Amino acid sequence: MANLAARGDSKDTVQTKHGCTSITTTDECSPNVFVGTGPTGIVRLGDKVHVHTFPPVLSCPSHQPPLTVASTTVLVNNRGAGRKGDLYIGEEIITGWPTVVIGG
Ligand SMILES: [Fe+2]
Repeated sequence: MANLAARGDSKDTVQTKHGCTSITTTDECSPNVFVGTGPTGIVRLGDKVHVHTFPPVLSCPSHQPPLTVASTTVLVNNRGAGRKGDLYIGEEIITGWPTVVIGG
């Protein structure tokens, strides 16, 4: 499976698996390591997803979890590089830049 580089600044999509906001986007990213057009910084371990709401459905408070699963062999600013399939706790990055593939 290809691990496509994940871009910040709302350039890639995240499946939250929440009732209130099922889809959101990437947000925080490297300020000086870029990928794709734009250019846009690569998401790194610890960077936060775009703020969004989550269950319980009645109140739908907002939160912004950090990326907790990323590459252990490719580092950006000395932090693991984010890829398609990596997780903001349980929320999965489901898109990535198609011409940059990052290892495990
Ligand atoms: Fe969430």
